[in-house]
Amino acid sequence: MKPLSQAVASVPPSGIRRFFDIAAQMEDCISLGVGEPDFVTPWHIREAAIWAIEKGFTTYTSNYGLFTLRQRIAAHLRNRYGVQYAPENEILVTVGVSEGLDIAMRALLNPGDEVVFFEPSYVSYAPCVLFAGGKPVAAPTDYRNGFQPGVEQLREAITPRTKAILLCYPSNPTGTVASRQVLEAVVRLAVEHDLFLVSDEIYDRLVYDTQHTCVASLPGAQERTILLGGFSKSYAMTGWRIGYACAPAPIIEMMMKVHQYTTLCAPIAAQKAAEEALERGEPEVERMRREYDRRRLLIVERLNDIGLECVPPQGAFYVFPSIRCTGLSSEQFTEQLLWEERVAVVPGNVFGASGEGHVRLSYATSLPRIEEALQRIERFVSKGRR
Ligand SMILES: Cc1ncc(COP(=O)(O)O)c(C=O)c1O
Repeated sequence: MKPLSQAVASVPPSGIRRFFDIAAQMEDCISLGVGEPDFVTPWHIREAAIWAIEKGFTTYTSNYGLFTLRQRIAAHLRNRYGVQYAPENEILVTVGVSEGLDIAMRALLNPGDEVVFFEPSYVSYAPCVLFAGGKPVAAPTDYRNGFQPGVEQLREAITPRTKAILLCYPSNPTGTVASRQVLEAVVRLAVEHDLFLVSDEIYDRLVYDTQHTCVASLPGAQERTILLGGFSKSYAMTGWRIGYACAPAPIIEMMMKVHQYTTLCAPIAAQKAAEEALERGEPEVERMRREYDRRRLLIVERLNDIGLECVPPQGAFYVFPSIRCTGLSSEQFTEQLLWEERVAVVPGNVFGASGEGHVRLSYATSLPRIEEALQRIERFVSKGRR
């Protein structure tokens, strides 16, 4: 057999899955691993999809997505962040942010173009850049300042081959929310070097004690930004596979071409559900956000008590404590915790080298299960210290 694709072969399978395959077989295992809301999609959203199917909405839609959904996305972004996108040609409905990310990279990159992102980073960024023929370049961040993006680190990572900066705030895996000032400085740098900005804002609605800054709303940003947003996290709609990309028309046109030939369109019933989410979902978003916030406060306090130092994250539903006090590597900690106490977390190194010495815990799990998991983690950490 001839060799398969080098680009694909060069990427290891996601480090998250390995532990979850073990955890899934284990009795009485508490998983704080997967980044997925523990809530079911609110009923009125599910009902809208059922209604749509009953009424015969079973066809393809425009490649761009239902016009009525694009109108609602445009209104939503205008009302929340004051950014204006034309539903006719500046918004593309995608199959989750995952597809948006993939086609953004394919629309932007030529072979060897570099994309810089802050690390620890979401596990898909480097592979998506590689699959599109680009070169991923990680700029490290440091937990001592809450993993805030550093403009100096970014400047050091930029080369004449840099094409884009990929941002993710609120961050998976750290929960960090970048300050407006830092993001303004990042935009200035992008303007100075004539770079695109790709901003994955999938967690925009899950922020606590702070405000989300939409990168496209910053001075000078919109004309060079691809804004990626979605429904999976805010509305507990991971299984519906709906996201959107917003950008200047020529960029959307390029992304649409890839989307058209590879995906055609997002599923129509799911698009109808997304319309309902934007139309009437606000109280449910707020209800879930408040519940995440309660869990966040508890988990941060308890982890610090246990000795796993943890800067309070202000967004998403992850904490990323340091496990250095245990003397274990991230992988050792994760593996031993899983076998000895049946708690699944994600080793920080799967999010890049600067994640070593940390683990990611998701608090998208019920409070009683989080409490039980924390007891087990405490027992595990204190055992190690005896
Ligand atoms: C930062 C980030 N971007 C994108 C995604 C994928 O989202 P979607 O379900 O919209 O494809 C995730 C899912 O975990 C994520 O954490």
